[in-house]
Amino acid sequence: MPLPAMGAAVLPIRRPLLPRQADIGGTRECSQTLERTTPDAGRSREAMSLTSETGTMLREFLRSPIDTGAVAPSSRRLGTAVTAPVPELGHPVVVELGPGTGAFTGIIQELLGGRGRHLAIEINPQLAEMLRDRFPYVEVLTEQAAALPRLLAERGHEKADVVVSGLPWASFPSTVQYETLSAIREVLAPDGAFTTFGYVHAMRLASALRFRRMMREAFEEVVAGRTVWGNLPPAFVLHGRRPRAVTPTGAPHPLAPHRPVRLLAEDH
Ligand SMILES: C[S@@+](CC[C@H](N)C(=O)[O-])C[C@H]1O[C@@H](n2cnc3c(N)ncnc32)[C@H](O)[C@@H]1O
Repeated sequence: MPLPAMGAAVLPIRRPLLPRQADIGGTRECSQTLERTTPDAGRSREAMSLTSETGTMLREFLRSPIDTGAVAPSSRRLGTAVTAPVPELGHPVVVELGPGTGAFTGIIQELLGGRGRHLAIEINPQLAEMLRDRFPYVEVLTEQAAALPRLLAERGHEKADVVVSGLPWASFPSTVQYETLSAIREVLAPDGAFTTFGYVHAMRLASALRFRRMMREAFEEVVAGRTVWGNLPPAFVLHGRRPRAVTPTGAPHPLAPHRPVRLLAEDH
């Protein structure tokens, strides 16, 4: 079993777990739970909401570190980078994997503005229940991400236009990485987009390298997006486009060339 890609491993001991002020400002916009009376009241309620999401993630991490894979929710900046492929027009089917406390969920809802469908697949029943309360327009399913083809088919969708992942890929054993990535490749529309992120401190773990190799086998194009240094911990974004055709056995496309993906974070 590989080590979890834990943010805790890189945190200085006395560093507070709360995100920076810039990230707090962003979270304000995407939170659907706040009522505002005065700016000060709004700010303190928002800080409470943020603290509770941070506390929830930390609690779930302590309970189940490998599945949770992070000690704190992602920042607004990382969320903006990861959700960039959500189309501005039309009625897309957007799937979110591993939404956690909803750091990307609110941003996707803002981008959709009531269009299309938004399915969120969260394996942790406590987090799934919390998301259902917080985001009534999101269909939250307490399932494994690898069940994606069945879950979409049951809802009458052949394909997804965008898959956004918050999954802790570097914590997963190879079978879970492979089955989950195969499921994503299977459901993604030919012109669809898959976006995910990884932590800079964990990018050289064998499990992280294996995942990036699988990405190159699953997609014709794998592009490294921005490195978000302001995230806690710093994270890089990966976009997969043009999913390769699935072979009859479900195995990776046999002709997949092994082109290295150059990550900006590797320059530093
Ligand atoms: C690193 S947290 C990310 C949460 C959120 N997207 C964020 O960025 O703040 C990973 C989430 O994926 C969920 N998860 C882990 N394995 C999963 C699986 N196989 N299927 C669905 N969700 C999973 C965990 O319960 C956790 O909520």
